[in-house]
Amino acid sequence: MIQPRSRTVVVLAAGEGKRMKSALPKVLHPLLGRTLVGHVLAAATAAAAERTLVVVGHRAEQVTAHLSEIAPAAVPVLQAEQHGTGHAVRLAMAAAPDATGTVVVLNGDVPLLRPETVTELIEAHESAGAAATVLTAEVADPTGLGRIVRDPAGGLERIVEERDASPEQRRIREINAGIYAFDAAGLRDALGKITTDNDQGEEYLTDAVGLLAAAGAPVGVHVAADVTETLGCNDRVELARLRRLLADRVNEGWMRAGVSILDPATTWIDVTVHLERDAVVDQNTQLYGTSTVGAEATVGPDVTLIDTAVGAGATVLRSHAVQARIGAGASVGPYAYLRPDAQLDERAKVGTFVEVKKSQIGAGAKVPHLSYVGDATIGARANIGAATIFVNYDGVHKSHTTVGESAFVGCDSSLIAPVEIGAGAYVGAGSVVNRDVPPGALAVTRAQQRTVDGWVRSRRPGTAAAAAAERATAGSAAGAGNGPADAGNGQVGAGNGEAAHHHGATDPVPGDTATD
Ligand code: UD1
Ligand code: CA
Repeated sequence: MIQPRSRTVVVLAAGEGKRMKSALPKVLHPLLGRTLVGHVLAAATAAAAERTLVVVGHRAEQVTAHLSEIAPAAVPVLQAEQHGTGHAVRLAMAAAPDATGTVVVLNGDVPLLRPETVTELIEAHESAGAAATVLTAEVADPTGLGRIVRDPAGGLERIVEERDASPEQRRIREINAGIYAFDAAGLRDALGKITTDNDQGEEYLTDAVGLLAAAGAPVGVHVAADVTETLGCNDRVELARLRRLLADRVNEGWMRAGVSILDPATTWIDVTVHLERDAVVDQNTQLYGTSTVGAEATVGPDVTLIDTAVGAGATVLRSHAVQARIGAGASVGPYAYLRPDAQLDERAKVGTFVEVKKSQIGAGAKVPHLSYVGDATIGARANIGAATIFVNYDGVHKSHTTVGESAFVGCDSSLIAPVEIGAGAYVGAGSVVNRDVPPGALAVTRAQQRTVDGWVRSRRPGTAAAAAAERATAGSAAGAGNGPADAGNGQVGAGNGEAAHHHGATDPVPGDTATD
């Protein structure tokens, strides 16, 4: 049992990260739901520190603005010119003159560090009463990293940077992760003594460790059980590798928690996403931000969800959703686009080539094909026929459309907002509706159909169409009048795609019965 001690966390995030070749500071590059520095700060919470200092320098304003969003309690410390990791920590310690106990220093570009490892490092350090404890790892390729030089007794002697290392030292495969615990007083003392006598002419934090060891202070090494936790990010190739490693870790975590991930290699889940048991994630699916997936829901293949909630038992197939809410048992796609504030109540359906924005689709309501729904409230069990457009924008203002429960909007209709279709009302296919339709009424606005019998025979003789017409009418007296072109019974045609063909014959629409 360790005595509780005062703790301070220092995160180093002032460097430019030249090898990223980016306008964005390195520590602000995104990695599955957090920035690099965001991951480090998340791991650092395990230290339960009284104070967290973040050393900022390159594009300090941008980094500080990000910190105020993700970790408002963290205190930025400006390192206007970056003279090395030792210089950075020296400035941080100067900004916290009363800090005592343990100081945990974390490189801002080591994002796969786990909170558990921070806890272990602190426990090892504090229980040993060490002046410094360094997190190290044995790696296959130590290129570019600081090497751990051990004394004959196996203790840490010093850390040597690759560019300052001898050929024998370069063969050492135990590396410095850039993660340390220090005793505050010892750290201050050592930082006062480090020089810039090295290849880069910088103040190296690693030299503080060497000075403490040389002075006979107890310096410990904590070897990371999982090497991936110690990997830094210096260029975009490394960033891509880290993303792969983190995705594997996240996917494994969810699979062990009862989620089926059918193709982990093509599944990318932000660390901020939550999934419930028996959710199924099919291949090539990205779940980002604050997205959630309920129990027994299926998402994918080919789905991207950003800050979107999927209810239990819902299905989302080959679709893209941003800030949408998909209710329990609802069905989305294939090929749907849900935009911010699209809300599907339970068992609602948004089908193929349908775009929904800032609209509520009531329980069991259906928008199955080829529609745009914007700024609308659609009641429970309403049916919106194929190719219906909610005309919400007049070039200046957006307006709202309400469709009542169990209303039926025929295919290829335009509902010109603001407008209300009452509960149980019908809209005939092909209508352009700009006045309210009372509950239970039928509105139909399409032009009358004109049918010219025998037109193909006289105007398109010798064509395939003429031959087909000839065959179809062979045996009937005049070859016209009762074929498929006969419009005499004026069906409503309010139907929804295929359904429209089956039930029209008994439903005359006033004024819609003429042949010509
Ligand atoms: C550092 C270590 C090296 C270790 C490696 C692990 C030193 C001298 N070397 O090397 O032993 O193996 O990390 O990844 O510490 N930073 C500042 N101010 C500065 C310089 C750097 O805030 O003046 C920040 C950077 O933004 C970065 C971190 O410190 O987040 C590490 O700096 P970097 O230049 O990447 O150090 P490495 O050369 O990788
Ligand atoms: Ca680095």
